[in-house]
This record gives sequence, C-alpha cells and structure tokens, in this order.
Amino acid sequence: MRSLPDVRAPLRLRVAAREELTPVVVLLTLVAPDGSALPGYAAGAHVTVTAPNGHRRSYSLAEAGGPAPTRYVIGVLREEGGRGGSVSLHDDVRVGDELDVAPPRNAFPLLPARRYVLIAGGIGITPVRAMAAELRARGDAEVTVLFLTRSPELTPWLEELREQGAVVHHSAERGRLDLWPWLAEPDDDARVYCCGPTSLLEEVRALTVHWRPSRVHTEDFAGVSADDVGGAPFTAVWQPTGERVEVPAGTSALTALRRAGLPVDGDCEAGTCGTCRLRLVAGRAHHRDLVLDDDECAGGFMPCVSRAVSEELVLAPPTG
Ligand code: FES
Repeated sequence: MRSLPDVRAPLRLRVAAREELTPVVVLLTLVAPDGSALPGYAAGAHVTVTAPNGHRRSYSLAEAGGPAPTRYVIGVLREEGGRGGSVSLHDDVRVGDELDVAPPRNAFPLLPARRYVLIAGGIGITPVRAMAAELRARGDAEVTVLFLTRSPELTPWLEELREQGAVVHHSAERGRLDLWPWLAEPDDDARVYCCGPTSLLEEVRALTVHWRPSRVHTEDFAGVSADDVGGAPFTAVWQPTGERVEVPAGTSALTALRRAGLPVDGDCEAGTCGTCRLRLVAGRAHHRDLVLDDDECAGGFMPCVSRAVSEELVLAPPTG
C-alpha cells in the first residue's frame, strides 16, 4: 500500500526578495523554486524557517492568506541576544538562496466578530498586518489597528499603516499609549487580538479582565524563554521504560528528560520550532507552545516550554 505524503515535511523555498524594512527588520519573500503554488494559510499563521546556521525560528506571515499563495512573506527581527537564528537570516541569506520552511500553522486564527481591535507591539505587527488585510478584503467588520513602536525609524510599514488609518504610536516621542479608550467597554460582538512583547500582552490582559476571555486573543511571538518555564514541579513518566523523571519548578521538562539521559531533540527551546515534540499519553498538560493547534494538544506535548496541570504526565517519543 502506498503511504500518503507527509504534508508537514519541510518545503525547500527560494528567497525571491529581501528588503531592509528598518535597521533591525529584514523582509524575506519565499517562493517555490519552480514558481508553483504553496500550501494555503489564513491570517495569523506562521512558518518555521531553518536559518543557514541550522537554528529553526518561527515567523508570522505578513500577508493575508489564501488557499494557494505563490509566496510567503516574513519579517525577521534581528535579535542579538537570541540563539542566532535571526542573526543568521539577516547576515547569511541572499536573494536566490534556498531555505527549509515548515508549512504554515495557525495558533492565532481570526475568529468571527463584527468588530476587531488589533494591537501590535514592534515586530508583532506581522500577523496583525495580515489580519487587517484579510478583514479589509472581507469588508464585513469594523477594524481598529493600534501599532506601538519606539520610534519612526524602527517602525516597519509606517506609511502603509498610516494610510490605512492605523493608530501608530511611538513611545520614545510620546510615552506609553493609554489603551483604555479602546478596551474600556467589553463587547460580545468584538474581539481583541494582541501580538507583541510580553509586557504589552500582560497590559492588554490586565485591561480586558472584564471581557469574556474567549474574546481576547494574545500571542507572544518571541515564544516562551527556556529560562522562564516556572510552574509547579511534576513527574514525567517515560512510557517506553516506565522511568520517572522529576521536573522541578524553574527547569523545563526538556532539560529534565535530557539530564535523565532520555533521547529528546530540541532546538529553539522557546516553543516555536516543533523539534522537541513528544506524545502525551496520559495526564493533563498546560500547553505554552506555539506549535500545537487545539486538536493536537490532546495527544502532543512540547517539553521545552509546556508544564503539567496534573501531578504527572506520561510521555512517549513521537511516532513515525
Ligand atoms: S525545542 Fe523548539 S518547540 Fe521545543
């Protein structure tokens, strides 16, 4: 019997264009080398790119999606203190190079509403730009875009967003933007989406505690730092051998499993690349990654950032 193709297998894509959007953000346009259509996606989706130095990083797609796009466009923020993936994409990638790209996934989908408040901080504008474009094309909802950056020089797509009516706020000139006027009135016909640094996400969550939680959607695209796994201790049971591994607070399950000599891969250690994926056989997990979608959370677990709700989790290597 012929096996089905693996739709999650990486695509080999060519860099068709690169543009320095700001001193720290480069825009990469990725296409199929033969010009064929790429797997479809909807706004809010991201792809995982393997940089020339071997590190894998996830990036939101910056354009509205569709069933058969001919290109993926990503904005890469240069992160000097990171694990080197973004610096390699900035310094080592030229037009014509080919990169491995895992097909789009969407952990931040646009759900139906009559009104949207889209809030972006810094490079968090990439999914918000795609969402705004998709909503404009649909034309059936009221959309407000709030874009917070430090200065005009560090603001990608500044003119485009202003022309589209976005509120663009530079904190170096005018201090913090008070978001309360847009969030004061909870509205069951509205949804709030926010992508940006953790501090902005926390502010938006604090300002929307009186909203129904299902109407507020946040995404920290820096992922979760491996040094910030926190959480209560739990026991990871390695199903193939029955070995019990204690995972202390402040230590990731990935680190604990590796210290115990168990063969678990990892790369980004931030819940974004998908490399460390395990099977969740039993127990209740607190999923903190950007890899698994809702359906996959029942049977998957990313040990680099996710924790347990139950006292123990039974884990196994991925199948296949
Ligand atoms: S190591 Fe990248 S998702 Fe866990």
